[in-house]
Amino acid sequence: MQLIDGKFIADQVKSEIAEEVKSMMAAGKKQPHLAVIIVGHDGGSETYVAHKVKSCAQVGFKSTKLAFEADITEDELLKEIDKLNNDDDVDGFIVQLPLPKHISEQKVIEAINYKKDVDGFHPINVGRMSIGLPCYVSATPSGIVELIKRYKIETSGKNCVIIGRSNIVGKPVASLMMQKGLDATVTVCHSRTKNIKEICREADIIIAALGKPEFLTADMVKDGVTIIDVGTTRVPSDKTKTGFKLTGDVKFDEVAPKCAFITPVPGGVGPMTIVSLLKNTLLAAKKEVYK
Ligand code: GUN
Repeated sequence: MQLIDGKFIADQVKSEIAEEVKSMMAAGKKQPHLAVIIVGHDGGSETYVAHKVKSCAQVGFKSTKLAFEADITEDELLKEIDKLNNDDDVDGFIVQLPLPKHISEQKVIEAINYKKDVDGFHPINVGRMSIGLPCYVSATPSGIVELIKRYKIETSGKNCVIIGRSNIVGKPVASLMMQKGLDATVTVCHSRTKNIKEICREADIIIAALGKPEFLTADMVKDGVTIIDVGTTRVPSDKTKTGFKLTGDVKFDEVAPKCAFITPVPGGVGPMTIVSLLKNTLLAAKKEVYK
């Protein structure tokens, strides 16, 4: 069994980005610039945004954090998005989700100029990804594919089972895994799937992204399977200072011995997601996806 070290790969990719930024700056190019909008004071969101801002500094990007109180109106927020759409210094930006209930997330996502949508959430980017056109791929699916490629995990003709059909993980990762180049045979399972255990037992690769702690057990997988665990549920724990333990969708201790490769939680997919955002921002700065 080989552990997939997301932190190690994330650091490797960050160094590669930092090198590229150095060369760009030496050639007199503009410093890549990511802007992040955050609304309200959700603890998880504040932590994520702080990490994103810190990671920008680590690779030599400029970053701007725009924080608004939870009572900002939808119209006011849409105006702020428009300002960033029209700010030539900003290469890409994101609006951290979730948003307060009175603001439509879909309206906000669609208000972002897709050419600056480095989260890859805009329907134009989602649609282009699904037909294999150049686009910004959203962070988690892109991080998963990067891990699979860097560990040289064979995907061609393999049975890949995805558990979960969310718009930000299950659907896009299914789309990527079946594309030319990765060439997996993909099955997507969800809450209404009747024979999940039987389907999983046929899988060469399982991507667990349903958000149910320790859902996938040893009896559900075959020997030699590769498992990518996307779950990050905060489960109460008296063993940690924070009072919770980040728990994946896989019962790691019993499943790991049967695996060829497996990602841990934390330290697997998680560290890769910010790196994907940095990669998209670099592509935006270099105008490599859209002019
Ligand atoms: N909330 C949780 N993950 C994400 C993400 O990748 N992007 C944004 N904008 N919000 C999130």
